[in-house]
Amino acid sequence: MAQWARSCALCHVNGEGGAPRVGHPDEWIARVAQGETALLNHTLEGYNNMPPLGYCMDCEAEDFSALIRFMADGS
Ligand code: HEC
Repeated sequence: MAQWARSCALCHVNGEGGAPRVGHPDEWIARVAQGETALLNHTLEGYNNMPPLGYCMDCEAEDFSALIRFMADGS
């Protein structure tokens, strides 16, 4: 998960800027309810304090999907 450690983790571990935290499925439930496509689009295009591509410039769409599933695990 090298990509995750230097991108998403910067905000999604401590909840920087209001980011839903990894390991806190309760913070992901309402977001996951939007559907995987909406979550992926918000990751690619940005969403409020969430920057476009989440600082992972070399991530492909499938990488983002895997990272989202990993962070939302259990929700
Ligand atoms: C600079 C901080 C930052 C980084 C880096 C970051 N995020 Fe986020 N992310 C946020 C914040 C803040 C929110 C909450 C936005 C809101 O709901 O207002 C968020 C929300 C999200 C959401 C939920 C969007 C929704 O529709 O509710 C997803 C999915 C997400 N991030 C994925 C990622 C992925 C994948 C990465 C790494 C590739 C990443 N983020 C990197 C700050 C960040």
